Amino acid sequence: MINVGIIGFGTVGTGTAKILINNRAVIRERTGIDINLKKIADLDIKKDRGIKLKKGVLTTDAHAVIDDPEIDVIVELVGGTTIARDLVLMALRAGKHVVTANKALLATYGSEIFRTAAKHKVRVGFEAAVAGGIPIIKVVREGLVANRIKAVYGIVNGTTNYILTKMTEEKAEFAEVLKEAQKLGYAEADPTYDIDGIDSAHKLAILATLAYGSSFSIKDVYVEGISKISPMDIDFARELGYKLKLLAIAKETDGKVELRVHPTMVPEDYMISKVDGVYNAVYVEGDAVGSTLYYGRGAGDMPTGSAVVSDIADIARGIVSGSTEPFAPGAVSPKPKSLMKMDDVISMYFFRFSALDRPGVLSTISGILGKYNISIISVIQKGSHRGKAVPLVVLTHLAREKDVTSALREINRLPVVEGKAVCIRVEGRDGA
Ligand code: NDP
Ligand code: HSE
Repeated sequence: MINVGIIGFGTVGTGTAKILINNRAVIRERTGIDINLKKIADLDIKKDRGIKLKKGVLTTDAHAVIDDPEIDVIVELVGGTTIARDLVLMALRAGKHVVTANKALLATYGSEIFRTAAKHKVRVGFEAAVAGGIPIIKVVREGLVANRIKAVYGIVNGTTNYILTKMTEEKAEFAEVLKEAQKLGYAEADPTYDIDGIDSAHKLAILATLAYGSSFSIKDVYVEGISKISPMDIDFARELGYKLKLLAIAKETDGKVELRVHPTMVPEDYMISKVDGVYNAVYVEGDAVGSTLYYGRGAGDMPTGSAVVSDIADIARGIVSGSTEPFAPGAVSPKPKSLMKMDDVISMYFFRFSALDRPGVLSTISGILGKYNISIISVIQKGSHRGKAVPLVVLTHLAREKDVTSALREINRLPVVEGKAVCIRVEGRDGA
């Protein structure tokens, strides 16, 4: 029998406990190993979590879980990068295997944690840290190990996808939908991590580390969130044949890796643009396998619990078979890939200007774009109010980020343009 202790009995802790208890026989049948949930620590052990636990399982003392000599696997589901880091390091140093869903922790202190695990010959499982219930860690680390990964990108945050979907389909208010996502247990303790793209960036750093054998951290990822997305841009996207999604993108070009998270317009006929609600999808392109896509629930108690338990089962198999193979993100490449500067990224772009409806304005704007080698695919002007500001939308061919930044700086200064231009990157085929 393998004994497990959970620290943090919140959304994911509850899902994990339910699966370990309710599916204990199923897991035993499928793995041949009996996995016993021995202890659970949380600050509040009075709250009804909807599970019947044996007497003595609950404790308010996380150390009582780590120090229990019969517990083989510690599951950290507290979140954050302070207490969680201490608990994880303490558990590893005590020779316990660790399973965590904490992407913030791994994207910030991953190197230290995996080094400590290797030193103490124990494993760290983190399947739940990226894309909830989708087993994407196993896919990238094991299933596609034969491939040079050209690109890994997708929707990896359930909360923001839920918000964007409700804003698109039901014209719902941002703040209202965020509250719903929090109630459903999708959002981070601090939801600005979701909204500002930081959670997606944490996940991207983990995926890119696995895919490219270099140790990437949150600091390496360019991040923009969804807070500035307006219903007007969602409508323009639809009119142009796109959907607005928060994408996390890693791509390799000539040994350089670009890592970026930002709202992105995705062609409506792409599968990823049909991924709605709390669902996530990750596209992985390998040189041998070609294009692959993985889809499932990206947040919530049970989907995330499913991923946590898969790591517990893997570790249990390792304990039973005596395998000491490390469970780290993969060997560090002898030729680590370098990071591409954001200035060098090439993309198509959507711009929305608030420009005066007056002769010569369009040609002034297009003249500046032309000066910076930015070629236009289409232009839409909404409404007509002579002499007043109207939305002017421009879709471009592939352009370099540095040129776009320079052109927008110049356009934003024009007296015929009000406020700052909205700039959204566009994925998909360049209509050239
Ligand atoms: P919750 O806030 O629901 O759960 C965390 C729990 O840990 C709370 O009950 C909290 O108590 C408790 N806690 C805090 N400090 C301690 C401590 N010192 N000892 C014991 N318990 C403590 O968070 P989630 O379950 O949503 O998230 C947990 C982790 O999983 C995070 O890293 C998150 O990023 C990750 N994750 C979450 C997903 C989701 O869908 N929710 C999906 C994938 C990953 P209190 O509330 O009193 O502070
Ligand atoms: N807050 C995260 C999300 C939880 O919404 O995707 C899953 O990692």
